[in-house]
This record gives sequence, C-alpha cells and structure tokens, in this order.
Amino acid sequence: MDKSFAEVHRENYRRQANGYGIDEAFVSLLVESFYTKIRADSDLGPIFDGVIGEGWPAHMNKMKQFWGAIALKTGEYHGRPMPAHMKLKQVERWHFDRWLELFAQNLEEIAPSPEAKNFFNARAQNIARSLMTGMFYDPAQDLLER
Ligand code: HEM
Repeated sequence: MDKSFAEVHRENYRRQANGYGIDEAFVSLLVESFYTKIRADSDLGPIFDGVIGEGWPAHMNKMKQFWGAIALKTGEYHGRPMPAHMKLKQVERWHFDRWLELFAQNLEEIAPSPEAKNFFNARAQNIARSLMTGMFYDPAQDLLER
C-alpha cells in the first residue's frame, strides 16, 4: 500500500532532523544535561524539586518523549503542558527568561550543529511564549496599556 501523506511527511522531517545531528540519543543527552543545569540552578532548582519530588525518573522520561515528539515526530508524548504549568503559581515571567537562558547555554555546549541549536531554541522560545500567555496574560492589563 502507498504510504500516507502523514507518514511521508514524518519520514522527511526525521531525515532532516537526522541531518542536523538530532536523533534519539541526542534528545536523551539534551534532556539529561538540561535538567542537570536546572536542578543546580538556585532559582529554578527548588521550584522543580518542590513539585517533582521523588518523581524525577518519570519526569525525565516524559521530557524525552516530549522533545522526541517535537524533533523526531515519534508520537510518544501524550501529556498536556498547559495545565501542568497553569498550576505553578510560584512561577513568574523572569523564571522563563532564566529557563530559556539555561536551555540555550546547554545547546551551546552540546548541539551537534548550528541547525540543531537553532531548531531547539526556536521551539523552546515558541512554547515558552505560549505557556506565558496562558499563565500571565491579563486582558484588563492589556486594556490599561493601550
Ligand atoms: C520557568 C519555566 C518553567 C518551569 C518552572 C517549569 C516547571 C515544570 C514543572 C515543575 C513540571 C512538572 C509538573 C508536574 O509534574 O506536575 C513541568 C512539566 C513540563 N514542562 Fe515545564 N516548566 C517551565 C518551562 C517549560 C518550557 C519552556 C517547556 C517547553 C519548551 C516546558 C515543558 C514541560 C513539559 C512538556 C512538561 C510535562 C507536562 C505533562 O505532560 O505533564 N516547561 N514543568
């Protein structure tokens, strides 16, 4: 049988990612090294540890699935990021700046190519913006600023 459009798209997407040096092993390294930085950070570490507690192994697996779904279209992530962050009332906008800074710093150290670095940074920035809109957008403030 012919391959579906979705299947062909997934294969092409994955081939391009592989060309950038992105594969399952790199996604795993990315997640491990990033959360090592997060946990060592005096601002973000305590927030993550406070929520995740003993659940780090499960969180790491989930994050590998998440980035694998984004970068390689593995289809293995089935979570819902928005509600997971909406409940984090202790998180402020500047925490996202720090998160993105550590994410970029990590890629600077481990990215296999400039394309891989740009690929992950661009996606992280878009998702961060969308999470921040959900968490902090205040229509009343928006009206006042006009
Ligand atoms: C300061 C910024 C951030 C903080 C403090 C933060 C914190 C957390 C915490 C504590 C959890 C675990 C929630 C739980 O298990 O109940 C979580 C889950 C998650 N985070 Fe973040 N996060 C931040 C930014 C981001 C960004 C920018 C992304 C994506 C690029 C992201 C992606 C995810 C995903 C995919 C999950 C799993 C959601 C699920 O399916 O349960 N986070 N985050």
